[in-house]
Amino acid sequence: MVKRQIPNPYEIFDLLHFKKPDLNGRHRRLQSALTIWDLRAIAKRRTPAAAFDYTDGAAEGEISLRRARQAFRDVEFHPDILHPAIDVDTSCDILGGRSAMPFGIAPTGFTRLMQTEGEIAGAGAAGAAGIPFTLSTLGTASIEDVKAANPYGRNWFQLYVMRQREISYGLVERAEKAGFDTLMFTVDTPVAGARLRDKRNGFSIPPQITAGTVLNAIPRPWWWFDFLTTPKLEFASLRTTGGTVGQLLDSAMDPTISYEDLEVIRSMWSGKIVIKGVQNIPDAKRLLDLGVDGILLSNHGGRQLDRAPVPFRLLPELVRDVGSHATIMIDTGIMNGADIVAATALGATFSVIGRAYLYGLMAGGRAGVDRAIEILHEEIVRTMKLLGVSSIGELEPRHVTQLTRLMPVRSQVKAAADTLSR
Ligand SMILES: Cc1cc2nc3c(=O)[nH]c(=O)nc-3n(C[C@H](O)[C@H](O)[C@H](O)COP(=O)(O)O)c2cc1C
Repeated sequence: MVKRQIPNPYEIFDLLHFKKPDLNGRHRRLQSALTIWDLRAIAKRRTPAAAFDYTDGAAEGEISLRRARQAFRDVEFHPDILHPAIDVDTSCDILGGRSAMPFGIAPTGFTRLMQTEGEIAGAGAAGAAGIPFTLSTLGTASIEDVKAANPYGRNWFQLYVMRQREISYGLVERAEKAGFDTLMFTVDTPVAGARLRDKRNGFSIPPQITAGTVLNAIPRPWWWFDFLTTPKLEFASLRTTGGTVGQLLDSAMDPTISYEDLEVIRSMWSGKIVIKGVQNIPDAKRLLDLGVDGILLSNHGGRQLDRAPVPFRLLPELVRDVGSHATIMIDTGIMNGADIVAATALGATFSVIGRAYLYGLMAGGRAGVDRAIEILHEEIVRTMKLLGVSSIGELEPRHVTQLTRLMPVRSQVKAAADTLSR
């Protein structure tokens, strides 16, 4: 029998804790987001469909992106028990400098479309958090403005080699002059991937206002207020004739770029150089043999070749082949700090995030990017503590197993490797 009693009013009063209402709507909204997926949900509510889909979408059937995210979900962690990790140090060395966390911000084009503060918010937040920020060739803030937004932090510049080589070379010179320490040369964009959401939405650069956009705008007044009351949305380093993002990429980028371009750029740039978009092991080895400072395993967030290899799956084999001294970076599919911990444990020197940062930006401008970084940081620290690891250097492959859903056909993998090594 349960023993019952008359309720004691003092006990009830003790339980009542009414919080002071948070009158700052943006702060309230961002604090309610506990994960990057929560920030994505807020971003979707606040951003016009065409801008949200340009960011959230990938190429063709978006299979690459789904597989990359799934590969991170399919991680199994192996914690050490009775191995206290009280103070966790998340800092690491990357490309000749320090970073407060094992990740930085990836280059993204046309960033002010997502939210008007664009790259300035990203660079400022990265600087405040002590992590590197990468400005895209297709950025909507200039090299000099990004430097002003992140004057003491690390800025990297992402280069597309364009048909008009002088434009690309001019940007390399400006980035060097502004003190950017690393050049990230993107090589996975000979032509634009088919971003079908953009086509279906009739999304073009500059954005055009149609009956559909007006309807879609009604529940998103703040985005429109920002759009209409801040300087014109345009590329900072490129003149365009208008069209879809795909048309623009196809007209500006040179599909014939080669190892010779790498040599030219190397000779112009005295800082570190990283090749972004490496997708197989022989290419990675060749580049490292040529003396590049790092390679970034990436399929461009699934926005180029759909069904391209999942970078996270290439990682262990590459690390085994080239050794842990090489700088191997990774992106595509990162939505949680634990994904970054898993990549680091399997030998990635550093990770970069694209959409995870942009969802924060769309959810709340600079404060939203701060929140995205904070969420990832909390997840990294918690995962490291639960693993019993106090520093980045203590993370090892034994902490992670990659569970397999999709297995490559062995004979085909061998045939491909034989052909590539010939
Ligand atoms: C909206 C958007 C724009 C991007 N623009 C560029 C770009 O201009 N140059 C580039 O090298 N990569 C670009 N990327 C790819 C990112 O640098 C990065 O490889 C990718 O976002 C990583 O995947 P994630 O979004 O899952 O983190 C872009 C990605 C997104 C989402």
